[in-house]
Amino acid sequence: MTIDLAALPEDFLWGTATSAYQIEGAVADDGRSPSIWDTFSHTPGKIDNDDHGDVACDHYHRWREDIALMRRLGTNAYRLSIAWPRVVPGGDGPANAKGLDFYDALIDGLLEAGITPSVTLYHWDLPQALQDRGGWPARDTAHHFGSYAAVVAERLGDRVQHWTTLNEPLCSAWIGHLEGKMAPGLTDLSAAVHASYHLLLGHGLAAQAIRAAAPGAQVGIVNNLSAVEAATDRPEDVAAARRQDGHTNRWWLDPVHGRGFPKDMREVYAAASGVELPEQPGDLETIAQPLDWLGLNYYFSSTVADDPTGPAPHVRTIRRPGVPRTGMDWEIDASGIERLLLRLTQEYGARKLYVTENGSAYPDVVRPDGTVDDPERQEYLIGHLAACASAARKGAPLAGYFAWSLLDNFEWAYGYDKRFGLVHVDYRTQARTIKGSGHRYADVIRAHAERARNAA
Ligand code: FCB
Repeated sequence: MTIDLAALPEDFLWGTATSAYQIEGAVADDGRSPSIWDTFSHTPGKIDNDDHGDVACDHYHRWREDIALMRRLGTNAYRLSIAWPRVVPGGDGPANAKGLDFYDALIDGLLEAGITPSVTLYHWDLPQALQDRGGWPARDTAHHFGSYAAVVAERLGDRVQHWTTLNEPLCSAWIGHLEGKMAPGLTDLSAAVHASYHLLLGHGLAAQAIRAAAPGAQVGIVNNLSAVEAATDRPEDVAAARRQDGHTNRWWLDPVHGRGFPKDMREVYAAASGVELPEQPGDLETIAQPLDWLGLNYYFSSTVADDPTGPAPHVRTIRRPGVPRTGMDWEIDASGIERLLLRLTQEYGARKLYVTENGSAYPDVVRPDGTVDDPERQEYLIGHLAACASAARKGAPLAGYFAWSLLDNFEWAYGYDKRFGLVHVDYRTQARTIKGSGHRYADVIRAHAERARNAA
């Protein structure tokens, strides 16, 4: 498998990604308040092995070591998220100086190492104080998010150019409020639809706040999209695939592109629970702030069939026989990332694209000689990079790729058993070991730089 490196621009961002709750630990240090993920992970039975993020990768204390790892990988960018409960512990109200100081130092450390920071404001850790006041189903939360965005952008905006408002609002709304498998753990379609609406409203308000505080900021939103296929060409299954595409992709893309919320899906949700959108005049314009770029998180594609008696959107995922899967039991389909990058380009007119997450989990072990070999992850990485380059060759304006993840970390409801890192973490000792895939990624980055040098 070769990667068409010539298709990627010279100033391509080669990064890794993490998120605050998954790596930081130090949940009670320096004035951080609990988030919905502290509450959820400490609720017995919600997380495999009852794991939680109290210590995680202890990145809060080891970030210098982690920047040194990024340098060894040769990456020139890093996608991190800010913990809202560290910065504005009450959700609204006063900022916490010590919380801001942490991110300030981290950003300086990255810049000193020649690594471009890409900052996500919300990677799922809503302050519990706001959940207690209604959480995302409540409109005020969107406004508090805008105020928190202003606080962060005022402090970091002189050095940070790349801003993401939300990471994967689909997971917050659908998995957190409808499927109940993520915080806050609700199973209520009305709450989920209202949460989805206020998340996107919050996105628009935050985008405005970032730009007001940091002129020149490059603002985007990160969605996890899925290439969807119908299980058969029966009209019922074709319609199911259309609904799944609406639920997973269009619901999140259309409103931010000024197309409003998809009518077909509004009808599906209304028919299932009577829920209507909590629309107020002007909201759709706020949601549709111009975007400097779009972020794609891609893991798998899905094949679906009609499931009229199942919950909205009434689809059932089909296992395609013989398709290889990762340790998450997710289908491996590198062609999906190419198709989605091209769709964002052609259908949504994206001006700039980043793959903001992509990666695979496998049960890695440290061998007696101290190395970690992960041939399957290497194959996944190279296959998906090749598909990204192919999309770029066909015209997708791809400007960077962020591997998920820098480190093995707290994989939400799956706890610590699912290892996505390019770097292995021994959770007993916090020892970090670069895996074979990390070395492989470094080789690719080096080869891309050499190509550019030779071309000059
Ligand atoms: C994405 C999340 C990220 C990580 C990967 C595996 O949905 O954004 O935090 O858990 O999945």
